[in-house]
Amino acid sequence: TTVEWEAASYDMGGHDTYMHKEIHEQADAVDRVLRGRIDDRFSTVHLGGLNLDAREARRIRRVKILGCGTSYHAGMIGAQMIEELARIPADAEPASEFRYRNAVVDPDTLYVAVSQSGETYDVLAAVQELKRKGARVLGVVNVVGSAIAREADGGIYVHAGPEVCVVSTKCFTNTCVAFALLALHLGRVRDLSVRDGKRIIEGLRRLPEQISEIMEQEEEVKKLAEQFAEARSMLFIGRVRGYPVAREASLKLKEVSYIHAEAYPASELKHGPLALIEPALPTVAIVPDDDLLEKNRAAMEEIKARSGRILAVAHQEQAKADHTIVVPKNEDELDPILMGIPLQLLAYHTALTLGRDIDKPRNLAKSVTVE
Ligand code: AGP
Repeated sequence: TTVEWEAASYDMGGHDTYMHKEIHEQADAVDRVLRGRIDDRFSTVHLGGLNLDAREARRIRRVKILGCGTSYHAGMIGAQMIEELARIPADAEPASEFRYRNAVVDPDTLYVAVSQSGETYDVLAAVQELKRKGARVLGVVNVVGSAIAREADGGIYVHAGPEVCVVSTKCFTNTCVAFALLALHLGRVRDLSVRDGKRIIEGLRRLPEQISEIMEQEEEVKKLAEQFAEARSMLFIGRVRGYPVAREASLKLKEVSYIHAEAYPASELKHGPLALIEPALPTVAIVPDDDLLEKNRAAMEEIKARSGRILAVAHQEQAKADHTIVVPKNEDELDPILMGIPLQLLAYHTALTLGRDIDKPRNLAKSVTVE
């Protein structure tokens, strides 16, 4: 596989950077992570490498997801999906924090290590420590046969294909989809109904086409990026499902454009960050069409009242925002997978406008294999 990946990675397919190529590969990549795994008969999925039988899956009392950077953000989305679909308490934590705080290792907790490269040292060290203490650890990994994949008791390959750009895009999306599969599987072994299982499967099948629809908006996003490239700093806000999307979009922008960006839960605005709002600080608001829509509208109103500029990523035009990027609606639980994608394009075009070294941002390495 390594040889194939290297060969494939030299073919730019008409794109100017790997980042652009990899953003555009996402519809196909999602197709790959789904392929062969859906079981329509029982409205569930088959995850061959999980090594977790139904009895074991029913005994899990908690799920702890560990990763770094973008993989950590995908883990945050995964934790929410697992809570929503499988009703198991779940959370994500940066692997580095986990390994340095002498965390309690609990036998009824399922640990999940997330990594594109499968070689990130902090994640690997956390896995090794967990294994030494007798914990069950799964890997959600892209690179087949990598150190974390080998060390884990089982797991899911995310099949994003080779990701060359230092800044992760398609692997993030595929990792989120892999978590949706894990959540659906755990849910159907436990108490998720056939009907909800079917609903999620139908939602998953719609993703590739919806990603292609998002790509059609690239010209529009590019124009917005040209405006936002002048900003010295940007704020990203979201609530519950939208919050990890805001976190990841903020990381993307700062990595590739070097514009300072910060993500906050929308509900935290009034506890401090509202003091920053002025016309020179644009806000990107993640506004899904779910039961928190009105709350998110109220947050935008607060920002507008202080002359802030707003770009909303939403399922319908937002009157409070200066601009809206309209993203196709999926099932509520799966919406976070799609909502960050136009913001990958925003980060890319902002960096392009600023003449940045997109595939190799300064000071960064593709995988951090040292402490
Ligand atoms: C992603 O854009 C970053 N370059 C970085 O945060 C990355 O996600 C992190 O270092 C973890 O890498 P991994 O997924 O290979 O473990």
